[in-house]
Amino acid sequence: MAYDIAVVPGDGIGTEVVDHSMPVVEEAADAHDVSINITRYDWGSERYLAEGAMMPEDGLDRLRDHDAIFLGAVGHPDVPDHVTLHGLRLEITKGFKQHVCKRPSYLFEGITSPLRNYGGGDIDFVVYRQNTEGEYADLGGREYEGFDNEVAVQSALFTREGTETIVRAAFEAATERAGKLTNVTKSNAQAHGMVFWDDIVEEVHGDYPDVEVERLLVDAASMDFVRRPEEFDVIVASNLFGDILTDLGAGISGSMGLAPSSNIDPTRTHPSMFEPVHGSAFDITGEGIANPIGTVLSWELLWDHLDEGAVARGLHNAVAEQLADSGAPRTPDIGGESGTEAVANDLRTRVE
Ligand code: NAI
Ligand code: MG
Repeated sequence: MAYDIAVVPGDGIGTEVVDHSMPVVEEAADAHDVSINITRYDWGSERYLAEGAMMPEDGLDRLRDHDAIFLGAVGHPDVPDHVTLHGLRLEITKGFKQHVCKRPSYLFEGITSPLRNYGGGDIDFVVYRQNTEGEYADLGGREYEGFDNEVAVQSALFTREGTETIVRAAFEAATERAGKLTNVTKSNAQAHGMVFWDDIVEEVHGDYPDVEVERLLVDAASMDFVRRPEEFDVIVASNLFGDILTDLGAGISGSMGLAPSSNIDPTRTHPSMFEPVHGSAFDITGEGIANPIGTVLSWELLWDHLDEGAVARGLHNAVAEQLADSGAPRTPDIGGESGTEAVANDLRTRVE
């Protein structure tokens, strides 16, 4: 099979991890007779600084016919974060109805968790985060700017389509995994949106009676991510809560640099988008030490989505084997001294 993939490396370490991971991905695809046609789009903050927009006006149309999209990261010290985020990533996730953000957290053998007494495989859960609305809806405004009576309003939006899609995807995943779903909510304080959210979870549960549902308030869930992460399997959460919890998930699984993510339109009407969880990391940009593994594992999610399971497994196993090998190169975020390129070159030799 041949696939047309759009690659948007973006800013900072986004371009570094994407470029160095490409040979690893090509190797895994080759090994299983899968061919990839890459179209590279140099959209991002440099474009914004030069032309006033993160991507061209017809950006979504250019992406529309690809089988999938791969994004590095966006974010630039000279451009406000809300501009970089809304001008590219959110345009794509909203425009292509990528309601489902799936983010696995897995503690690999050979990785030291900041949590005591947790070893390889002890942390293994996946967060299903609502990806198109909720607290990240662009709803609100500011009035009387600069005056004493200045106000800002930021509203959260919960639609039946957006909520039901993420909840259903999470129940599906729970059915395929351990049959357990944790609903992370805050319906005690947010009596409109989050009570609606809980109602939808209950409603969809009717279609999946065999799944056991646990309901946790987000503050308690945060504590339990640290206290008893082994008990989580599939978690469903709103946009903001899922965003925060998945950084925590990355932290307890060893590093932000290891964490993969996907933005999925379950109807497959539009291409889905895959990206590492991390951002453009100003603090290490240009040093050549960004961990490429979160990117490689995001390509794993891409191949799984395109039903090329053998390619996905090839990448996953190469990562697992490298991390378990105490003599293999690793980047500083996971205790090594090697750079992005050395890690990627080594991964390439392990791909089957
Ligand atoms: P960040 O994820 O870029 O970095 C957080 C910390 O993790 C930093 O100390 C960084 O060095 C480390 N880190 C991240 N990825 C790493 C990797 N692959 N290897 C080794 N260490 C890694 O988050 P931060 O610093 O809050 O944001 C920087 C910029 O990125 C901002 O402009 C922000 O808006 C943007 N951002 C973009 C995202 C996206 O494009 N999806 C996601 C998160 C942030
Ligand atoms: Mg985030």
